[in-house]
Amino acid sequence: MNEPIYLYRGEVFYFKSSPLESKDCYCYFSDGLLVVSEGKIVETGAYEDIKDRYPGASLTDYSGKLLMPGLIDSHVHYPQSEMIGMYGRQLLDWLNEYTYPTEEAFSNPEYAERVARLFVNELFRNGTTTCMAYATVHKESVNALFSVASDYNMLMMTGKVLMNRNAPQALTDTEESGETDSRELIETWHKKGRNLYVITPRFSITSTHGQLISAARLHEEYPDTYIQTHLSENKNEIDSTLSLSPECSDYLEVYERAGLVTNRSVFGHCIHLSDSECRRMAEAGAIIAHCPTSNLFLGSGLFDMQQANRINIQTTLATDVGGGTSLSLWKTMAESYKVQQLNGYSMSVFESLYKCTLGTARALQLDDKIGSFEKGREADFIVVDCMATSSLQMRKNYLERNGKWNLENKLFGVQTLGDDRNILATYVAGKLVYLSDACNHQETGM
Ligand code: GUN
Ligand code: ZN
Repeated sequence: MNEPIYLYRGEVFYFKSSPLESKDCYCYFSDGLLVVSEGKIVETGAYEDIKDRYPGASLTDYSGKLLMPGLIDSHVHYPQSEMIGMYGRQLLDWLNEYTYPTEEAFSNPEYAERVARLFVNELFRNGTTTCMAYATVHKESVNALFSVASDYNMLMMTGKVLMNRNAPQALTDTEESGETDSRELIETWHKKGRNLYVITPRFSITSTHGQLISAARLHEEYPDTYIQTHLSENKNEIDSTLSLSPECSDYLEVYERAGLVTNRSVFGHCIHLSDSECRRMAEAGAIIAHCPTSNLFLGSGLFDMQQANRINIQTTLATDVGGGTSLSLWKTMAESYKVQQLNGYSMSVFESLYKCTLGTARALQLDDKIGSFEKGREADFIVVDCMATSSLQMRKNYLERNGKWNLENKLFGVQTLGDDRNILATYVAGKLVYLSDACNHQETGM
């Protein structure tokens, strides 16, 4: 039996390689067609060239709107959704005053599920279709997020936070219980549907060397899981870390000694790294999650993208909510541009967008599944209205009058001025999971 085919007409855009390697790094059809069947991409092309191949298929007309792969957030804390934007202080006080008390409530499965559902719906409203999320120390918090993600058939990456010291008692596990609980969660959820497990030692301050080693051992036992943790975010954090591990000459060495620096390890922040730490990360194939709204909000510092690019570390963009101030990766890109401006580097919109789509998928070794519209990829895509606000419309009129309206300018406008208002619709595995009130597309039989 032939499976139904769904056609989406619009401005089709996706990356095929890194803008840092080649100018010819993306595919773009100003009047394009995205062809989807059984939740996967069949093909893309110019509307006029390929439409006749699909007589009778249902067509959704998003003409004039951008169709692009869903955004990927490589570092976010879903239990912190409600405590976003809390006034005052830097990382370690902020964790003690706001974060840990908030996370204690996630031992309650109903509460965890309620927040997980709100979080996932907020992701969709912001055009994010995959995230690598921290849960809390409680197994219930992981069950809740994987279970909500499964309802939408969403590619979700998360895991139980491991913390066995320097945290409130209600949030601590032990080396043994942390390992047992993580193993149980891996067996239950990893690679079930689109779920992927992430072994999650929060950071070195809250895990003993023994617990870090147990995390690495788990990863060896299940080598296609991922690892996530925090690295070199804040000066006081670095000092504390080194005083807890005086045998290490820098922060990265704490994780290296435990065996946690791998090509499936995502390190949040990485603001104050030495060249040596960067080189060792690059050699290991480790991944940076750059979290600009959080780094500015918590006063953590200015991440050096040029250093990361020069040393060739895989770098991705991330929101880090609730240290981060928005779940919108567009806003995140805007802040990442400003941070690099302060570093003397005017990062292109293609670089930032790549680091929220195909670049992240590649870093996570998921580019055979997500991040582009190549044939066979899972159909996670978004519909973006690049003129959703009067300011964007005025800007377009101005650029058109001056003969400067082009794709790069258009995307840079959404990056600088855009947010959830620019997301008209979000599809996950070919299914509509979010439709903005502003959307009045037309569906027809062809
Ligand atoms: N370092 C350890 N835990 C956290 C957290 O929850 N947020 C941020 N921004 N940094 C951390
Ligand atoms: Zn974080």
